[in-house]
Amino acid sequence: MDDTLFAPVNKLIQDHRILKGHLQAVVNAADAMRNGRLDDTNAAALQQALGFFHTEVPRHARIEDELLLPRMKKLLKDPSSHFAYLLEHIAKDHHEFAAMHAELAGLSEALAVRMRFNPPPADQPNPMLDRFCELAVLLQDYYRSHILVEERDIFPAVPHALTESDLRELAAEVEKA
Ligand SMILES: [Fe+2]
Ligand SMILES: [Fe+2]
Repeated sequence: MDDTLFAPVNKLIQDHRILKGHLQAVVNAADAMRNGRLDDTNAAALQQALGFFHTEVPRHARIEDELLLPRMKKLLKDPSSHFAYLLEHIAKDHHEFAAMHAELAGLSEALAVRMRFNPPPADQPNPMLDRFCELAVLLQDYYRSHILVEERDIFPAVPHALTESDLRELAAEVEKA
């Protein structure tokens, strides 16, 4: 089997590495905001992370939801198997992540305005910042287990489950996605 057939899965794994870096940048920015010392570097890393969440994460989820998972589902012999459950679970996670990303983006925008024009004293309650910090950690935790399931349980099965012509078709569709 030539390497191009592994390209779709390799690309998804590469996306995961980049995503993990951005998730850490959001946690770092949240900590810095909490300590009242968000510097230009943290702020720029946060903006880059939000940009990646806005464009690359939906594309990544679309490739999994529309191109990869349906192909795997079609080949399931037992729809009540643990593997079938994992495929459902992964798709459900993508919906939850989309909602969390939308909330994070909204909070980040509101916080940026608030911190610039009307920063609350550090000893005052700041529920918006509390939720931003909570969400940053939650996203990182949820993605950690999501990525683990994909890379440990689902992706390694792809080259065994799909035929060479399926893999070729998948690679061509991912290239265009
Ligand atoms: Fe993924
Ligand atoms: Fe995923």
